[in-house]
Amino acid sequence: MEYITLNNGINCPVVGIGTFMLSPADAENSVREALKMGCSLVDTANAYVNERAVGRGIRESGLSRGQVFLSTKLWPSEYENPNAVDETLERLGVDYVDLLYIHQPAGNWLAGYRQLEKAYREGKAKSIGISNFEGKYIAELESKWEIAPQFIQVEAHPYFTQTGLRRTLDQYGIRLMSWYPLGHGDKSLMSEPLFAELGRKYGKSPAQVILRWHTQMGFVVIPGSRNVDHIRDNLDILDFTLTGEEMARIAALDKGERYYHRTDEQLVQFALWKPEFEKR
Ligand SMILES: NC(=O)c1ccc[n+]([C@@H]2O[C@H](COP(=O)([O-])OP(=O)(O)OC[C@H]3O[C@@H](n4cnc5c(N)ncnc54)[C@H](OP(=O)(O)O)[C@@H]3O)[C@@H](O)[C@H]2O)c1
Repeated sequence: MEYITLNNGINCPVVGIGTFMLSPADAENSVREALKMGCSLVDTANAYVNERAVGRGIRESGLSRGQVFLSTKLWPSEYENPNAVDETLERLGVDYVDLLYIHQPAGNWLAGYRQLEKAYREGKAKSIGISNFEGKYIAELESKWEIAPQFIQVEAHPYFTQTGLRRTLDQYGIRLMSWYPLGHGDKSLMSEPLFAELGRKYGKSPAQVILRWHTQMGFVVIPGSRNVDHIRDNLDILDFTLTGEEMARIAALDKGERYYHRTDEQLVQFALWKPEFEKR
């Protein structure tokens, strides 16, 4: 595994597994199998309603707590719940997480960020992050944070490389964790002839080439999968290096286009929605 060092000195693996849209049964299975294959970074969220299952997957893997970098996210419904962090830890079955995000700039997100800072000071979150806080949101938070975040989690892939945002991140040493790293399974991204060409050169699949590109961009990558063969492939990306010329050819694919377009109306809806958490 390769690691990056965060702006607070903590190390984070560069590749892990994401669990968005995985049912509890699939999340438990994917997390357990990934960890048994050498993965050591797992990303979930209150809103995925699979935190208990992720916790089970970690315990079933046989790895000790210290061997896993566990990331989760507070949903806006929890930003003003003073017990939100403890309830999140209880669902996961751990007494700290390695990374705790606020998931969306919705509702009273500053209260949510204050909860992150408190959890950080108390050792319940070893690092903290903001998710979907591009543009005016990170600009506003910048003037208000007492502790700068270690991570931002945003959509990023070869069609959308977050060029503007990265200039702000560099000022604070904030690292980017890519969501939709494979375009959420979009066929056109994975079918780009360039990834097939580079895959043939290195003996890798197009998905593996894309994931290696993320890590060489300095991004941490958390592809989601319920397929054990894909999970194995997604972890097997660190034994080759794309050349500078190949990275430049991939850069030319950037269309500056997201797959996911969030509206202000959706942010209002996010603030009103409360996940129905797993009971057990
Ligand atoms: N903060 C946020 O708001 C936010 C939003 C979205 C996602 N996320 C996080 O980011 C993670 C990644 O995003 P994502 O899971 O939505 O999208 P993704 O990783 O870009 O794509 C997942 C899709 O790609 C397929 N896939 C995975 N590995 C593959 C491989 N080696 N070859 C071919 N197909 C492959 C998966 O299908 P199979 O199951 O068949 O492998 C699945 O359909 C999430 O799981 C979540 O943790 C965060």
